[in-house]
Formats: sequence, C-alpha cells, structure tokens
Amino acid sequence: MCKDLHIVIGITGGIAAYKSLSLIRLFKKAGAEVRVVATPHALEFVTPLTLQTLSQNSVYTDLFATTEKVDVEHISLAEWADAVVVAPATANLIGKYANGIADDALSTMLLACACPVFMAPAMNKNMLAHPAVQENLQTLQKRGVLLIGPDAGFLACGTTGEGRMKEPEEIFSTVQEFFAKNLTLNGKRALVTAGPTYEPIDPVRFIGNHSSGLMGFALAETLARRGAQVTLVTGPTHLKSQNPLIERVDVKTAAQMLEACQRVAPTADIIIMSAAVADYTPETVAPEKIKKNDASLVLNLKKTTDILATLGRQKTENQCIVGFALETEHEEANALAKLKNKNADLIVLNSLRNEGAGFQCSTNRVTILDRNGNKVEGDLKDKTQVAEDIVTYVIDYMNNKKSL
Ligand code: CTP
Repeated sequence: MCKDLHIVIGITGGIAAYKSLSLIRLFKKAGAEVRVVATPHALEFVTPLTLQTLSQNSVYTDLFATTEKVDVEHISLAEWADAVVVAPATANLIGKYANGIADDALSTMLLACACPVFMAPAMNKNMLAHPAVQENLQTLQKRGVLLIGPDAGFLACGTTGEGRMKEPEEIFSTVQEFFAKNLTLNGKRALVTAGPTYEPIDPVRFIGNHSSGLMGFALAETLARRGAQVTLVTGPTHLKSQNPLIERVDVKTAAQMLEACQRVAPTADIIIMSAAVADYTPETVAPEKIKKNDASLVLNLKKTTDILATLGRQKTENQCIVGFALETEHEEANALAKLKNKNADLIVLNSLRNEGAGFQCSTNRVTILDRNGNKVEGDLKDKTQVAEDIVTYVIDYMNNKKSL
C-alpha cells in the first residue's frame, strides 16, 4: 500500500531516534521513497551516514548548507512529500510546530507542508504531562496533525510512565492504513459553504444568524490537507483559512452564495453545504435607513433559493453531496426527509438539544446518515475532529460507490 509513496521521515533529538532506523526500513521495504530530515540534536543519536544508507537518499539536516542542488530544499521537500512522519517528536519540536517557529530544517519544512503530518511524541512522563506540552499537542491535533501515541512503558530516563514512542511497526501500520483506506483526495475538487448569510433590510440592518463558520472552515482545511482543491464559499465571519491552497470566496447574502456555488459546483467531486443559509430574505431592501416611526414594523420576506436542493437537482454522476440538518425535534425523520428532498448523498445531523454542539461552539456532536440507510452516531468532539470524521465518511462512501 505504500508503494511509490513519498514519505519524509523527520527525526528529532530523543533517544527513540534509534528506532527511526527501523521505521525507515519498514517504509523502504514496503516500496516507499523515503527522504530523511534530521535536526542537529537527532544527529547526536544517529549518524547521517546510517540515515542516508537506509533511506538511499541524502539526508537534509542543514537549512543553510550549499549543495549542487539549487532549489530551496525545505520547500521542495514539503511539495514532494505525500506524508511527513516525525518520529520521535520531542517536546521542543512539538512546541515549535504548534507556535510556528521555524529555526531548523525540520521545523521550517513542516511549516511549508500541505500534506498529512503524523507525529509520534516521545519524552519523559513529567514533560508530557506539562500543561505547555499538552496545550501544544492539542493545538496540533486541532490543526489536523495525526498523533501516534505515545505509549506508557519503561522510559529511557529510568522511570515508567506515559511518554514512550510507539514502536516503529505501529507507526508504520498507522500510516499504511491511512493510505490503504485511500483517505487521500489528490486530484479531487471540493466545494464547501460556511458561516451565516446576512440578508439586508436597509443600509445598516440585516437578518442573520449565530453561525460562526467553524464547522465549514474545519471541513475545508481537512479536505485541503487530504489533497483536494478546495473552494470555500463563506458568509460573513472573522475566521481565517489557514491552508493557502484553499480558494476563499466571501459572500454576504443567500443569493450571492448560490451564485458562487453555481460557478464551482459543476466541476466539484465533493460538495459540503455546512452554511446556515437564510431561508427568507426581505422582499425589498429599503434604500435609506428605516426610521423609527410607528409602534410596529412589518417586514415582508420571500423565500431564498435552496442552494443544496438546487445543486442536488444538478448533481452529476460521481458527485458526492453532503447537506447539514440542524434540528430541534424529530431530528432523524427531518434529516432523512432533507436527504431525500434535496437529493443529497449524506446528511450531517446536528441537534441543538446536545450540549456543546451547534452554533458558536468549538465542539460538535453529529450523526451522519447516508442514502444507503447507514447511520453513524458520533461523540462530542472538537469540530476539527468532527470534520475529519465527516471527510473520512465521504471518502469511504465514494470508494464504496465506485466498487459497487
Ligand atoms: N440550505 C441551502 N440553502 C438554503 C437553505 C438551506 O443550501 N436556502 C442547506 C444548508 O446549508 C444545509 C441544509 O440545506 O446543508 C439544511 O439546512 P436547514 O436550515 O437545516 O434546513 P432547511 O432546508 O432550511 O429547512 P428548515 O429550516 O425548515 O429546517
């Protein structure tokens, strides 16, 4: 499953660095092409010659070394990689990556990476338990870094506890499984909608909702990290997309969102509509600010076009369309009705009854329902993790459809 994959193995200065030699062997034996990036501290534990001989490639250790090659190596390596596996990942490297510090070959290359990044932390149990390290690990996980371990066991410092690097075989099989499940989206195009829409009443007022856009942004990041070319059509939000490869289209109203989606949808393989689109918009927009005159004010509203249903009607054969349903009662029945009526492939059901789920929360709890009658109920998780689950479900669904 790893045949011809381009794997960059990052090695940092922990005693577990000696185990990375077996990891290189495992990838090489499986037919992967391996390039090694080692920090100066890693080279206190393993020699460049060993790394070079095992990987059958030159080892990248010095950001400022002059070689025959004239390309900027940390950038070209980042572009070359299908995946980066950092093993062992010390507290220092984890801290640097979480905080955007780039002061050596490995930390610099990591910031330039758009591919999946796996990390196998290894350190003393007290270091691992330190709030700074825990926060850094959480930050990395939220950004989609795939952590492998650590394990509990005998540590090099002579104590026993959590902090031992996962064995090379386990690290290898986690990466292998990721690619075996074909969880990548290279060459695919994805369209994601996010955030609220603002429907203008007059030049200073609008009808909006509490959607933060977090779920849609997390989905766009996950899809991009898996290799898809992503267009993110978003309503007003303060969020910034991190991955520079995401094409972001900012819109305000439901009509503008529809127009932006219509442009992208015909060539999209995956469409995920997570925006909270207004169902109604004012019939007319007052040209001047409406003055406070009468005791009451009546606004006439007209229905907006349902973007998901429109794209559902125009769905092409291999397209996978995902809708969201936000319900407060008869959740599943309503979600299934939306799945059918809007011709979606999957529906992600949010229930406002679940604490910690829905608008303005960083966490969510969803149930995924598909056209084939399958249903998966998720736990309460960070929205980045929910995004990973949804994207994995989409890929599995598309792969199964292909093999039917
Ligand atoms: N949606 C859309 N265009 C609209 C309204 C909704 O594309 N004008 C999409 C949302 O992005 C979401 C799905 O439809 O993926 C369901 O949205 P939701 O508000 O739960 O359902 P509605 O169809 O609007 O029905 P209701 O508000 O009556 O529950």
